[in-house]
Amino acid sequence: MSRGDFMFRFEIKARDAAGRIGKLEVNGKKIETPAIMPVVNPKQLIVEPKELEKMGFDIIITNSYIIYKDKELREKAIEMGIHKLLDYNGIIEVDSGSFQLMRYGNVDVSNKEIVEFQHKIGVDIGTFLDIPTPPDAPREKAEKDLKITLERAKEAEEIKEIPMNATIQGSTYTDLRRKAARILSGMNFEIHPIGAVVPLLESYRFKELVDIVISSKVGLRPDRPVHLFGAGHPIIFALAVAMGVDLFDSASYALYAKDDRYMTPNGTKRLEELEYFPCSCPVCSRYTPQELREMPKEERARLLAIHNLWVIKEEINRIKQAIREGELWRLVDERARAHPKLYAAYKRLLDHYSYLEEFEPITKKSAFFKISEESLKWPIVRRAQERARRVKEKFPETIKHPIFGDIPRYLSLTYPFAQSEGEEDFPIEKPTNENAHLYIQAIAEYQFGKGSSEAFKDVKVEISKTGMPRQVKVNGKRVATVRAEDGLLTLGIEGAKRLHQVLPYPRMRVVVNDEAEPFVRKGKDVFAKFVTFADPNIRPYDEVLVVNENDELLGTGQALLSGREMIVFQVGRAVKVRKGVGK
Ligand code: GUN
Ligand code: ZN
Repeated sequence: MSRGDFMFRFEIKARDAAGRIGKLEVNGKKIETPAIMPVVNPKQLIVEPKELEKMGFDIIITNSYIIYKDKELREKAIEMGIHKLLDYNGIIEVDSGSFQLMRYGNVDVSNKEIVEFQHKIGVDIGTFLDIPTPPDAPREKAEKDLKITLERAKEAEEIKEIPMNATIQGSTYTDLRRKAARILSGMNFEIHPIGAVVPLLESYRFKELVDIVISSKVGLRPDRPVHLFGAGHPIIFALAVAMGVDLFDSASYALYAKDDRYMTPNGTKRLEELEYFPCSCPVCSRYTPQELREMPKEERARLLAIHNLWVIKEEINRIKQAIREGELWRLVDERARAHPKLYAAYKRLLDHYSYLEEFEPITKKSAFFKISEESLKWPIVRRAQERARRVKEKFPETIKHPIFGDIPRYLSLTYPFAQSEGEEDFPIEKPTNENAHLYIQAIAEYQFGKGSSEAFKDVKVEISKTGMPRQVKVNGKRVATVRAEDGLLTLGIEGAKRLHQVLPYPRMRVVVNDEAEPFVRKGKDVFAKFVTFADPNIRPYDEVLVVNENDELLGTGQALLSGREMIVFQVGRAVKVRKGVGK
């Protein structure tokens, strides 16, 4: 893994848009992402780390440079370790002084010294001394700074014995961000923060933030968690998670509180303008705004900080629930209405279709809701329209869909055409015994790509009591099932064999090594570490063909990762196997 004997794992549990719910395990401590790390200032504990722990914050971030610079703190930290020093048992990440470097122009420590110090005080995740080049810096400066950051990365990589952040820099130059991401991805690091975005956040330059995050993500390998450094306001969380950000840190919960500012997921209020609290956290249920205003400054700041933390936590939970339900885009759309600059950023994000489409699930638990003009640009809509256009070449008969326009008649039961709500209803036309096989063929073309209908030429379709196609058979053997929820196909072994015959390698294939072969044949799941190759066109939740390196079919099941992700990931499941071919 690395020279230190630490443990670090990240795997994807669920996903929506380019966002994901992940399981992050560091030194035996497990947390779920997306997660927010409250910033703890070791010199000024406005909320004690123990209290953060009790509130459910299982990861925090503090600054190793502040500890290093203070003789007393430094000696204590070395002697008792950072967990004892802060009295906190969760995951402790530390920054390096880079932010001080950006704010004040210099720091009084070398890269090597701070990295070694982080190890010495027993942090869970360290950060080397990257150089945050602010937005709009001259190109030459951005390049020069990045060169130093990459040299420091190299130095840190050689001496590190702990999991470590490698921060992506490059100012507002998207090509530099992409390049930095590529290079750092090729090195031995565990997490990639995106750095120097605080000035953009502070001035609401969210559109540029989107371009920076996307260009960084494009350059990064997909299996490492990404942290948006210095992003701590809940207004931005949903958008950032939809882009594929996994971690946030917030100093603002405390900074705002000291300034009598009250966070909401749609923006910040001044305490003085509040007559009512739009929140029912323990602070807001106990006090009125007036009562808070009348309190001594320090107590008030503490209570506002606690409210701000609850709001942050609640928004993260809301996002995770939205991912589980396949509703993340809807939440992003809703949040985008909070500020015109956020709305602009949301629209900009939707322009990054090819990035987004790769991670967008093929099916969702919830129906598509046309809730805005922008929702018509969500990746599932554009993908459905593009695929429908392709299917139309083979099945030219169309019907008018009130949201999606002209679609092939035989796709009218399938996601998202049937599972959608617009202003007008879409009357579903049920198949007959005469045309049911055409539905199956059109669905196959739509789901597995061009030529796939060949595998289902001679099928017989059983129609359920409700008039829907269900089991798809040939000579009494099941080849596939039409899923009631989304009108897509689940393959039986016979169906998988037929599709495997019809589609040339590597289409819809997940290739596993010899070690995994017997397990897949028995119907056991495929773990990502056994995947040696996969069709890059596989999307999350696609039904796929699992094969060995000779392209012999071993089983069929549902992909949990995109094709490119499966190749890179070393942790977690890649395919939920439904059926193995035995042997
Ligand atoms: N905190 C906020 N921005 C940054 C950054 O770019 N680098 C580091 N190390 N810390 C930060
Ligand atoms: Zn509250």
